[in-house]
This record gives sequence, C-alpha cells and structure tokens, in this order.
Amino acid sequence: MSKGKFYITTPIYYPSDKLHIGHTYCTVATDAMARYKRLSGYDVMFLTGTDEHGQKIEDKAREAGVTPKQYVDDIVEGPRGVKDLWRLMNISNDRFIRTTDDYHVTAIQRIFKKLHDNGDIYKGTYKGKYCKPCESFWTESQLVDGKCPDCGREVTDAEEEAYFFRLSKYAGKVRDLLENTDFLEPRSRVNEMVNNFIKPGLEDLCVSRTSFTWGIPVDFDPGHVVYVWVDALSNYITALGFENDAYDDYEKYWPADVHFVGKEIVRFHSIIWPAMLMSLGEPLPKKVYGHGWLLLDGGKMSKSKGNVVDPYILAEKFGVDALRFFLLRTFPFGSDGNFSNEALINTINVDLANDLGNLVSRTTAMVGKYFGGKLPAGCRDWAQPAPFDTELKEMASSLRGRYEAEMERFQFQNALEEVFKVIQRANKYIDENAPWALAKDMDQNGPRLAHVLYNLLEATRICGVLLTPFMPGSMAKLFDQIGADEAARTWDSAAVWGSLSDDAAPKKGENLFPRIDMDAAIRELDAAAEEAKKAALPPIEIEPQATEFVDFDTFCKSDFRAVKVKACTHVKKSDKLLCFTLDDGTGTDRQILSGIAKWYEPEQLIGKTLVAIVNLPPRKMMGLASNGMLISAVHREHGEEKLNLLMVSDDIPAGAKMC
Ligand code: MSP
Repeated sequence: MSKGKFYITTPIYYPSDKLHIGHTYCTVATDAMARYKRLSGYDVMFLTGTDEHGQKIEDKAREAGVTPKQYVDDIVEGPRGVKDLWRLMNISNDRFIRTTDDYHVTAIQRIFKKLHDNGDIYKGTYKGKYCKPCESFWTESQLVDGKCPDCGREVTDAEEEAYFFRLSKYAGKVRDLLENTDFLEPRSRVNEMVNNFIKPGLEDLCVSRTSFTWGIPVDFDPGHVVYVWVDALSNYITALGFENDAYDDYEKYWPADVHFVGKEIVRFHSIIWPAMLMSLGEPLPKKVYGHGWLLLDGGKMSKSKGNVVDPYILAEKFGVDALRFFLLRTFPFGSDGNFSNEALINTINVDLANDLGNLVSRTTAMVGKYFGGKLPAGCRDWAQPAPFDTELKEMASSLRGRYEAEMERFQFQNALEEVFKVIQRANKYIDENAPWALAKDMDQNGPRLAHVLYNLLEATRICGVLLTPFMPGSMAKLFDQIGADEAARTWDSAAVWGSLSDDAAPKKGENLFPRIDMDAAIRELDAAAEEAKKAALPPIEIEPQATEFVDFDTFCKSDFRAVKVKACTHVKKSDKLLCFTLDDGTGTDRQILSGIAKWYEPEQLIGKTLVAIVNLPPRKMMGLASNGMLISAVHREHGEEKLNLLMVSDDIPAGAKMC
C-alpha cells in the first residue's frame, strides 16, 4: 500500500559547461531523498533536467562554432555529459526534462499567453542593469558595489522594449507565505529573502528579451523570447504535463513536495515561482529547501577560477557510493561546507573502511570460520541476554525512528550519524564478547557465539537498509554478504529486530570499501587537477601585436645576424641560463647568454644556425658577459610558456645580415 505521492525536484542545470562536484551534491541529495521515500513506501516522482536557453549558451555556442542546440546536445547527451554523470552516480530520476524539448516549448508559450491574457504580463520598456553570466536583471539599488549581487561580476546598462510580469502585485501574498508558513527552509533563508528583496519593494519583473534569439519565442509577438527563469521554473509543471500532452501526471503529482535548490537561486524559487503560480491560479509547491554550497578553499568553485572538482575523477577513483556517502555525511545540508580531497579520503577510511567495512568483513569471516558459513538454527534467541545484547538490540531496532525524524527534516548528516552510532556500537559489541575467546571452547560456547554473530549480522542488516538510499550499489552487495533475503531488506524490516532468518548463510565477499592510501591518492589527485587545470586553459595564446609604431630609422639600427653555435654549456648555479660560443662571421667568437635551459639541452644546439641581435650593449649575468641576444618565437599552450629558437638554413654563412 502506497503511503501517498512524493514529488521532488533538483534545479535544472545550465549545460554551459560540464557539471562539477557542487552540482553533483544537490543531485545526490535529491536522489537519496527520493530513494528514502520510495523505500519507505511512497509513490515517488523525481525530476531533474537541463535549462538550455539564454544568452550565455548562445555566446558559448558561437565561441565553439556550433549552433546552440548542438552545443547543449553535446554537454547533455554527449560523452561524460550530464546524463552520463547521473548514470554514473546511480541517480534514480524518474524523468529528465530538457527545456528545448518540444512539449516544454509549447507549454511555455501557453503559460506566457495565459499570464498575458489575465493581465499579469504587460509591455513596457526595460531600463536597468543586466548580469550576463547570471542572466539576471537588477535595479541600481540591488547592485552591490555596482556589481551583480549574486556573482559579483560587472553588469551592463540595458534598455529595450520588453514584457513585464506584475511581481509587485504579489508582494504581500509572497511575504505572507514566507513569513507565516514553513514554505521556505532553512528558516534563515526567509529573513534573507524578506529583508533583501521584499522589504526594499518588489518591482515588476522583466520577462522577455529582444537582444538575443536563443530562447522560447513569444508566439504572439515575434522578436521577443521568454526570460530564461520563466522558462526554467515552469519545468517543474511542464514535465508533469501542464499545458502539454506529452505527460499526464499533473493531477497526480502537483504540487511538488519539495524543490531542492542551491542558496543562490532561492530568490527565484521562493518569490518569483510562487507569484507565477498564484497568477496562474495553480497550487504552490509545499516546500523549497535552500541548501548550502560546497566551497573550495573557502571560496566558490568556478570554471573561470580553474578550481572545479570533477566528480568523474573522484567517482572512478574512490567509487560512486563512497562519493555519494561522503557528500551527505560530511556537510550539513542547509549550510556551506568546505570540500577537500583529504576530508573525502578520511571519511572513506574512517566510516566506510574501518567502521562499516570491518564490521561486515569480521562478522562474515567469523561465521565462515567458526560455523562453516551457516549459523545453527535457533541462534536468534538467547534466554538470558546480557546487558550489551539488550543495548545493541534496542539501539538498532529503534534506529529507524531516529533516522526517519532526521530524513524528514532533510538532515542527511544527522540521519547518517544515527546509523554510524549503531555501527560503532556493534563494533564495540565484538570486543565486549571476544568471539575469538568463545571459539576456543565451541562445545561449551558455540551457541553463545552463534547468537553473538547473529546479533552482529542483524544490527548490520538494519543499518544496511537505512544506508541503501545513500549507497544503493554497495548495500545490495552487503545484503548478499550477510545473507539477507528480500524480506530482510525492506523498510518494514528495518524496525523489526530478528528479521534476518537465523539460518541465513553469510558469505565473506569482496572488500566493500577498501582503505585508501591518503598520501598516494592526494598526489595522484593533485596531478590530475593540475592536468585538468591546464586543459581548461586556452590551447594557444599569442601575445597581442604592439600597437605603437617604432620609427624606421630606429628599427634599422638593430643589427640581426646569422650565428653558428660552436659550443653551448649550462651556466653554473643557474637553472635558466645557457652560455653560447658563437661564430658571428667576424673571426672572433661571440659569447651570448640565453635563458632557455628549460627548453633546450646544450648538445641539441651545437652546429645550428641561429639569429642574434648583435649590437645590444654587453650585459653581465651570473658573472659572465653576454654580447647580444638570440631570437626566439614564444607563445603559451594551455597556460604553459613555450619557446622555439629561431633557426635558419645551415646554408646561410655565419655573419649574414638579416634585414
Ligand atoms: N539553471 C538554473 C536552475 C534553474 S531551476 C528552475 C541554475 N543552474 S546551475 O547549473 O547554475 O546550478 C544548478 C544548481 O547547482 C543550483 O542549485 C546551484 O546552487 C547548484 N550548485 C552549483 N554550484 C554549487 C556548489 N559549489 N555547491 C552546491 N551547489 C551548487 O542555477
């Protein structure tokens, strides 16, 4: 029997670049919540997708020399794109919406028309400030130090004919919703919205653009495209079939039970979105939860800073479940958290390898060693339980209630903390019972040992059920190892001690969570990050040409000559300089020092014909005289400086003038 429906969403992602660990965080949290709700008996609809319109995408596509649709197709559907990432991360979304899907486009045109027909969208002139990366309009008063209040970047003046949504009309109702209901959580976000946006006065919102074309056209006024946030927010209802025929689930699933969103887009979800729905006369989502950001070194991750963390690298290196677990175990969902590879590896080693992994491997190994892999029938019961038997049993059988209370408040970290208290208690129970000592006299202690091992398996099983939403793949393996059948993997069974059949046959299997060598792993990750950083930099950078003229006579004074390398050596105590002995055609050797040791070994250059400017005043470097300068071509590749000495045909005699 279903407990009812549960509709949960992630924000739909901008496919302007590949997704990073911050995006993965939100999707993994939503997935854990969706899986928890399914496990506990709800009929879940979990929606995610991509938000594909807007000027930023149009610009990126132009830079890449492809159409906007080709550009987003590659990032969404292509190798290591958004869909691949969600498959890798074992994301169980029921639906994936792309805002370029035909049904969504049609539905947005109808929604826009509805808002227009009911008088809440009108035509006016937009004058203000526009932040291109955020695709957000701001008034002068909303800017922070003259810059975009969301991302801190420069804004530009904008003025054009545009449609406006009467957001101001809904200010009172939205304020009431925020202040007097638990629509928006955590509560601290309410104050932020009311103080920063509503109290200063909600202005009508510009909801169409004419300065670019990559958007959904306003069908009754060609030349205008729908503002990307109106297009994007509506995905939550169009994906259910609102104003389209592609789906028929609107009645069943709307209103959403919760929208999970990052803190910087709470404004759109808790002010604009409810106002739009009020205007459409549709029910409001039950809740918006604004989670915190994953930070790197205390700051925001961004491609332009070159500090994004690639979830592919981490999942492939440490396992998908370990990464999923780390994200939700470590950071309180409502607040910001600092990501680090050290914290990730530490969590894997302490919680997964040490506490959980050892519990499973020790227990299953002992069942194998002492009982040939099968506990004797009747081991579930023990006539006079010891206090630690009772304590373990009570802690484990009441765990589901504590876990559920935390999960219902989206406190993943606390829910996991409750589970790990039981895992730690179970490990202590091994030491308290010293099974290896009991095993010394199996005739006398065999039944007790069997009971102890049963209790351990049972505590592990209950934890396994509750960890399934976080680590679905590994928990399936854990159940196989402890011999839990389907009935012992259910939500109901997690509250019933003794659900594991006492003739279960546990098998010690592969190590679920191998221990990671911290130093080696960090070295490898740092090297991979360095590579990725380089790859993200422009492939070739060439210094812009000088704009200032040099007069002809001055230029002609520079004396460029062909020179032949007679000898070349490293300069002592310098890792940069090479010392050249050159035949410059005068009959007297010329010595030039050149800072090119990074690119050339001296032997490579002997006998080569190079070009030098020979009438520069002599200079001393590292105590040696340098009489002139060798000419090189320089550029940068993926941020790295490259240098090539100018070499000319060996047929050119030493001393030939270059002009
Ligand atoms: N397209 C909009 C959402 C439209 S929803 C109708 C958008 N996309 S986004 O790709 O830029 O961001 C998607 C989500 O990822 C946001 O909730 C954002 O907060 C989240 N994250 C991006 N970087 C993040 C971190 N470093 N940490 C946690 N979440 C972050 O906004």
